[in-house]
Amino acid sequence: MPRMAQALPEDELRRLRALDAAALWHPFTQMQIFPHEDPAPPIVTGAEGNWLIAADGKRYLDANCGYWCLALGCRPERVEKAIAAQLERFGHSTLLGISHAPAIELAAKLTTLAGPPLNHAFFADSGSEAVEVALKMAYQCQVQRGHPERSTFLALGEAYHGDTLGAVAVGGVDLFHGMFKPLLFKVHRVPPPHCYRCPWQQQPESCALECASALEQALEDHAHELAALVIEPLVLGPGGVIPQPAKYLERAVSKARALGITVIFDEVAVGMGRLGRLFAFEEIGVKPDILCLAKGLTGGLLPLSAVLAAEDIYRTFLGEFADRKTFFHGHTFTGSALGCAAALAALEILTEDGQAFLVTTRERTIPEFWKTLEPLRAHALVGNLRGRGLMAGLELVADKSRRVPFEWSRRTGHRVLLAARKRGVNLRAIGDLVLAVPPLTITSAELCLLGRVLAEALDETAGQMRNA
Ligand SMILES: Cc1ncc(COP(=O)(O)O)c(C=O)c1O
Repeated sequence: MPRMAQALPEDELRRLRALDAAALWHPFTQMQIFPHEDPAPPIVTGAEGNWLIAADGKRYLDANCGYWCLALGCRPERVEKAIAAQLERFGHSTLLGISHAPAIELAAKLTTLAGPPLNHAFFADSGSEAVEVALKMAYQCQVQRGHPERSTFLALGEAYHGDTLGAVAVGGVDLFHGMFKPLLFKVHRVPPPHCYRCPWQQQPESCALECASALEQALEDHAHELAALVIEPLVLGPGGVIPQPAKYLERAVSKARALGITVIFDEVAVGMGRLGRLFAFEEIGVKPDILCLAKGLTGGLLPLSAVLAAEDIYRTFLGEFADRKTFFHGHTFTGSALGCAAALAALEILTEDGQAFLVTTRERTIPEFWKTLEPLRAHALVGNLRGRGLMAGLELVADKSRRVPFEWSRRTGHRVLLAARKRGVNLRAIGDLVLAVPPLTITSAELCLLGRVLAEALDETAGQMRNA
């Protein structure tokens, strides 16, 4: 059971709960149900290590790590200190037309780490905005290259690139994006490479990578009108934690390159060490033309995203003012000084001593994580355990042998989440996919707890589904 920490007085807790229900509209949350959940959603008032401390004194291992961003735990001291130190100097100054030191240092650091040709960093405030920037940048670049007809994009089914309208347009999760279709620009889409629910009804052991061939074909068919291919490299994240089969990404990039199509990697979820490398592209040794980073960039403490652009893309934006090649994009908080200071500290942690932190992530944490989860594969509710690095999804099914999903409105995934909450672990479920995306700092003991709580929560949920 969750350990008790310093709890708020009962009446203060009641006041906060009432205000939460009355005034705060939570994202991705059915507000009619939220105030009545049992156990009640934690109201976080503090944090320590990888643990959230709630107003009622209970503690929760954060196996969702602040929606996949608190990669270094809830309270990375160096990052907190860097933010405090920056605040002593100044909190905010714009990058529109003038500059500041933390943004300069961070741009230099990121481009050095990513290496040529990714020589230029453009900052934004969130992953969604990074994707918006990348899309606009790719299109304007085509116009400046003399190809205004290259005005559409190729993206994957089940892709998730964020919630702003451009990001929604390239997204492919019907539950999230279907509602907004009338508002969106044209995007070509290919089915995702989904080995558990293969759109080509193939088996991974014997398939001919029909998914990769379909993507290559779509690139060929639409090359003349494509501004870019947009892809989450190696794992489709919120759309189902769907790992791509070996060679899929390499084939996609190589075909796009051969056809002169710009490649955008959305590493918002998979970058910054989540897969064991600073950049996911390191796994395949091929760089995109445009790279989107966010989430763990600041250690997850402040909202900041970065878009790294290749030299040849950047150069198309240079000219006289009257040439209208300026990139007219930028938000009030673009390149927040506090965010940049936080990111510099987070990058120091990830890269010092020959990237020792990431070596540990690859050699200890990731293998232990999968060893912990492996026994859950046998559970009657678990149709598929999948993912990569420190990103796992357990797909719950009503009939394991025939892979039949539960009726989605029964919220089986959410029941597992509530059962885990009761036992002091904070999780997230997307439909009937239960997600485990822990901080890179998760300890062996915490992994044990996560495995045990997931098993118990699945048992409890299985009992409920039998009796319902
Ligand atoms: C792959 C990917 N792209 C983009 C986003 C959007 O990022 P943000 O929520 O910071 O806008 C997310 C968020 O989960 C993501 O996982």
